[in-house]
Amino acid sequence: MNLLRMPVVLLTLLAAASDGAAEPAAPLHIDAAAPGTAISPDLFGIFFEDINYAADGGLYAELVQNRSFEYQAIEQTAWTQLAYWEFVGRGGGEGSLVVAASRPLHANNPHYAVVDVPTAGDGAGIRNPGFDGIAVEAGKTYDVSMFVRQLYVDRRWGGRPIGDDEPFEIFARLEDKQGQSLGETKLTYTGADWQRIAGEIVAERTVDDARLWVYTKQAGGIALDVVSLFPRETFKDRSNGLRKDLAATLAALHPRFIRFPGGCLVHGDGLPNMYRWKDTIGPIHERKEQANIWRYHQSVGLGYFEYFQFCEDIGAKPLPVVPAAVSCQNSGHTAGAGQDGIPLDEMQAYVQEVLDLIEWANGPADSHWGAKRAAAGHPEPFGLEYLGVGNEDRITPAFEERFRMIYAAIQEKHPEITVIGTVGPFPDGEDYDEGWRIANELHVPMVDEHYYRPPEWFLDNLHRYDDFNRARSAVYLGEYAAHDRGRRTTLRSALAEAAYMTHLERNGDVVRLSSYAPLLGKRGRCQWNPDLIYFTNTDVYPTINYYVQQLFGQNAGDELLPAELTPPAGEDGLLPVATSVVRDANNGDVIVKIVNYGGAAQPLAIELAGAERLAEDATLLLLAGEADAVNDFDTREPLVPQESTLSVGAAFDYEAPANSLSVIRIPQR
Ligand code: AHR
Repeated sequence: MNLLRMPVVLLTLLAAASDGAAEPAAPLHIDAAAPGTAISPDLFGIFFEDINYAADGGLYAELVQNRSFEYQAIEQTAWTQLAYWEFVGRGGGEGSLVVAASRPLHANNPHYAVVDVPTAGDGAGIRNPGFDGIAVEAGKTYDVSMFVRQLYVDRRWGGRPIGDDEPFEIFARLEDKQGQSLGETKLTYTGADWQRIAGEIVAERTVDDARLWVYTKQAGGIALDVVSLFPRETFKDRSNGLRKDLAATLAALHPRFIRFPGGCLVHGDGLPNMYRWKDTIGPIHERKEQANIWRYHQSVGLGYFEYFQFCEDIGAKPLPVVPAAVSCQNSGHTAGAGQDGIPLDEMQAYVQEVLDLIEWANGPADSHWGAKRAAAGHPEPFGLEYLGVGNEDRITPAFEERFRMIYAAIQEKHPEITVIGTVGPFPDGEDYDEGWRIANELHVPMVDEHYYRPPEWFLDNLHRYDDFNRARSAVYLGEYAAHDRGRRTTLRSALAEAAYMTHLERNGDVVRLSSYAPLLGKRGRCQWNPDLIYFTNTDVYPTINYYVQQLFGQNAGDELLPAELTPPAGEDGLLPVATSVVRDANNGDVIVKIVNYGGAAQPLAIELAGAERLAEDATLLLLAGEADAVNDFDTREPLVPQESTLSVGAAFDYEAPANSLSVIRIPQR
C-alpha cells in the first residue's frame, strides 16, 4: 500500500548564477538578524468533516458497512435497515433475514437483524460487502465482533427457546467474490440475552473486494447487531481506531490543530439532524447513529473521544465546532426547511450541553463529564483551548439570539476558552458583515472565515489581511481552497494557495488559524470536489495542494522576519512572486518560502542580513511543474516535492523555477 508516494531526490545544488536566465534578478532582502514579529504558532491545521465518505468507509477503520442495521431510506432512497446485507445459504442452507426493533441492544441503537435458519445445510447467514469491498492483506489479522441474542433452536417461531447452558456456534468468514474462503473463525456463546462475541481472522490472501459472511451450521434463529470487522493494525494500534495509512498521511501534514466534525455536518439538515457530541461518546453500541447531511450515514464510531485522541496522537490541538443552536439554512433534504432554531425554552439545556463538552474535555476525572472521559481511557484532561460555535450560518435574529446565549455562558464559566464565531460562507456579503458586527459587539476572540474561489481570486486578494484592524477579533480561515477550472486540484491552484499562505504568515498576528477544505475524498463517493487527499480502500492519493499544505505545516515558524522583494533594477510592476520568511523559535531555523506563480523562471538576488549566524548549507524543498499538472488516481508520476541542498550566505542567487514553491530551510549555525 502506498503511503505518501514521496520519492526524495537528494541532489546537491550549488547556488545558481542567473547568467543566461531570461529575466534580470530581483533583489530579495531578508533581515534574519531582526527580532521578528510573533505570529500564531497554530497557523496551519486541518479541517476534518465526514463528507465524501471521509469517516465511515474512510478514516474510521471499520470494514463492515451498516454494521448496526441503522441505515434508512431518508439517507438514500434505495436504503433500508438491511442495506448492504444479504442472506446467503450454502449446501441446502435456507432461511431469511428481516429487521426487528422489539428488544434492542440499546435504545440509541433500535434496529437489529433477525436471521432465521430453519435448515442450516452447509451454512446459512448474512453477508456484507463492506464499503465497496473489504480490502484484506495476506497474513494480517482482522478482529471480528458482534452482539448476538439467540431466539430459538431447531424449529421455527414458537419453537423451543434456547436453554441458558446450550452453546450456539456462529462462524465469521472472509471470502472472495467467488465465495472462496480467505479465513474464518468460530465464535461460541450460551444464553438467551444480548452478548458480545469476538474472534480474529488471519487473511490467507490479499484481495480488495472481500465480503464478510456471518453464518451458522445449526438450525435456529438469532438476532445480530453491531457486526464489526477491524484490521488489527490501526493508527497507533488504537481499538475502534483509524485507518493507518490515511491517519499517517494526515499526521505528515504536521497540523497544529484539527477542526471537527464539520462543516455543514455540524448544524445539520434540520434540528433533529444536528451533530450532538453526547450521542457520539461511550461504547459504540450505545451511540446514536444518524443521517449524514451529505446524504449517507454517520455511524459516529469515529466520535468525540476518537477525534480528541487522534489530535493527541499527532500533537494537534482539538478544535471542535458545536452548532450555534440553529440548523443549516440549506436544510430540506431529510428534515426541516431552511434554518430552524432550538426552541428558546430548550436553550438552557442546550447551553449546558456545550458547557458539558468543556467539562468532558478538560474537567478532572472525578467531575461528572470528566469521569466519562476517564471511563473511556483518558483520565488526563485533553487540554481544549479552542471551541467553534456555529458553522457559516445565516446570520439571522434567531441565530444571533442563540449565539449570544451560548457565548455569554462560555465567557462566564470558561473564560479560558477561545470561542470562534462564524461569519457566513463567503469572504464578503450580508452574513459576513453581520457576523463581524456581532463579533465586534461581543468582542468574540476569533471568527471563522470561509471562501472557495478561483486561483485568480486568491492572487488578487493576497493583501486581504494587511490592513485588518488588529484590535478586533482574530481570524480563523476555517475553510478555503482555490477551485481551478473543472473544480480540480492543479499545480496552478496549489500555487495560488501557497502564495496566499505566505500572506497568511505575513499576517500571522491576525490570522491565527487556517485549514484547507475539504480534506478527504473517496474515489467514486465524493459529494464535493476538489479535496486535499483522495483515497480508495487500499491507496492514498495526495494532491499537489496536499504537498503545499505539508510544506507549510512542516516548515512553519512562530516569528515573521522582515523580507522585501523588489522588481529588478530598471523595472517596475508586480512580479508573480510571493514570499514570506519565518523563524522557528524551537531551533532558530530561518525558513524562506518563495512562490513563483508565473510561467517564467524568476532569478532572485537574495541578501541575507544575519547570515553569519546561519549554516551555509540549507535544505531546499521544491515543488515545480506545469501549471496544469494534476495528481489524481490515474497520474503515473505524481508531482511531489524534491529535496536538495542549497549553498547560502550573505548574498546568493536563486532562480525560482516557473510555477514553483521553494522552501529554503536554513539551520542556525
Ligand atoms: O467543506 C465543504 C463544505 O463547505 C462545508 O461543510 C461547509 O461548511 C462549506 O459550505
